[in-house]
Amino acid sequence: MNALKPIPPAPPIEPPLALLAELTHRCPLQCPYCANPLEMERAANELDTADWLRVLEEAAALGVLQAHFSGGEPTARKDLRELVRGAAACGLYSNLITSGVTLDPALLAALAEAGLDHVQLSFQDADAAQADRIGGYRRGHARKLVVAGQIREAGLPLTANFVVHRQNLDRLPDMLALGEEIGASRIEIAHVQYYGWALVNRAALMPNRAQLERANEAVAQARERLRGRITIDYVVPDYYAARPKACMGGWARRIINVTPAGLALPCHAAETLPGFRWPSVRTASLGAIWRDDPGFNRYRGTAWMPEPCRSCDQREVDWGGCRCQALAMTGDAGATDPACALSSDHFMMAYAVAAADAVAEGPAPELVYRRIRTAALVR
Ligand code: SF4
Ligand code: FES
Repeated sequence: MNALKPIPPAPPIEPPLALLAELTHRCPLQCPYCANPLEMERAANELDTADWLRVLEEAAALGVLQAHFSGGEPTARKDLRELVRGAAACGLYSNLITSGVTLDPALLAALAEAGLDHVQLSFQDADAAQADRIGGYRRGHARKLVVAGQIREAGLPLTANFVVHRQNLDRLPDMLALGEEIGASRIEIAHVQYYGWALVNRAALMPNRAQLERANEAVAQARERLRGRITIDYVVPDYYAARPKACMGGWARRIINVTPAGLALPCHAAETLPGFRWPSVRTASLGAIWRDDPGFNRYRGTAWMPEPCRSCDQREVDWGGCRCQALAMTGDAGATDPACALSSDHFMMAYAVAAADAVAEGPAPELVYRRIRTAALVR
């Protein structure tokens, strides 16, 4: 008699660690590498306070531990204090991801009183003129330096975030020194990820290999010097790596993203994937979305993987890399991430690197700034 081979049970779906609450796309800055989609949401379409408070409660019930309030610029929301209080009330650790230019001592005191746990302040450069040029905001850098002091005075732990690219990477040692000077407990150096606005500006932003090598060395020296005092987060960009990073910690594995209008996504760029109908938190609970939504389950785990990922010993380390990058470069969101040297599409990364090396000495192309009116031109 033939015994049927038992089907192994599907692994349990773990809750996400973090909710990325994109409160708004409104922002006074215009960074040309913004992670927001080209089609930005108008204020009239944003979730209201009651919706966000419910989402925070649902997140906590699902097992989420951290709420990251981001945007756009989250302080553009008049109810930010109420939302921070709501997060604290349901036991969530809260982090404000901000450009800082709209913060002041009164608002910081109110947020701290409401239970805010941490502030992540972004800088565009260590050089004021260059920072203001890249952010498209006059005197913004000087304002951020003042606000950094105010954050510390409010008793809030501070992470200094620097997004690096061809036009500022050579000043990385100055950025690390600036992070130290303003009393950051953590410095995050984030290379631009090339989707959305950054993909439009890739030729102007992608560093060349020599710049990258100098940057890696600067980080290694700073880590040695600041050991035990300041943590430095730094990941070598995909274009120069042999293996991809575990984007978002793996698809629908660690993070759930909610857009200003209430769409729930497994990553901030998932709206670029064609053929998906992303669920709304207005009509479904976060828990039901996380467990049951077909889009969340599409690339979760390892069962969806093609070769070479399927039989690779790294498949539960990088989870196949980034679906949005696979789509942007190969046209197939289910392909092995071209950042992987084992991918048959890896040559595309090599072309982009060669192009960056070739234009290294010439003037960088003009930046296309993140503005609603330029979005219509580049879509
Ligand atoms: Fe990661 Fe797939 Fe490359 Fe293996 S083959 S390293 S799982 S992207
Ligand atoms: Fe969407 Fe990487 S940005 S999976």
